[in-house]
Amino acid sequence: MSKKISIEFEYEFFESVQELSAIDQNLIEQSRVAAKKAYAPYSSFNVGAALLLENGKIILGSNQENVAYPSGMCAERVAFFYAGAQYPGVAITTVAISAFTDNFITLKPVTPCGSCRQVMAEYEHLQNKPINMLFASTQDEVYKIKGATPLLPLLFYEQNLKTNA
Ligand code: THU
Repeated sequence: MSKKISIEFEYEFFESVQELSAIDQNLIEQSRVAAKKAYAPYSSFNVGAALLLENGKIILGSNQENVAYPSGMCAERVAFFYAGAQYPGVAITTVAISAFTDNFITLKPVTPCGSCRQVMAEYEHLQNKPINMLFASTQDEVYKIKGATPLLPLLFYEQNLKTNA
């Protein structure tokens, strides 16, 4: 007999960046700085990601597009891969993401694409500690989520590659 299984998902909604801790506010500010460095001539959608590492370092990433569209890369993965390459074994405490475009005002916080969720979840699993997620926009609202894994229920993970999973 089949049964219904539900997965709960919870996130915190902040009306204003001011409600966050000084550390989180700074990280959002850094993600906005990162977004200004985006190379997004095709979409004009500039995304910035700022990672706070356990060792106190802040890593910035921005989306890098290419005329062969699929060859581009999202801001989150640019930042996560950089952290993985430069600071292997150093846990990521928090990621802040924000975006702007000159074409309209990004009212709602930007939420990462599926591929970025998959990548962030794997780094989280590797470090065995949740990564705090802060999603912002150019406006004031922020979503805060404890952990990357809840963003992708039933994700593909390492065990799936093993015969007895
Ligand atoms: N993009 C990101 O960098 N991160 C996201 O979370 C969503 C989308 C980029 C990819 C592309 O360069 C542009 O935004 C429009 O999709």
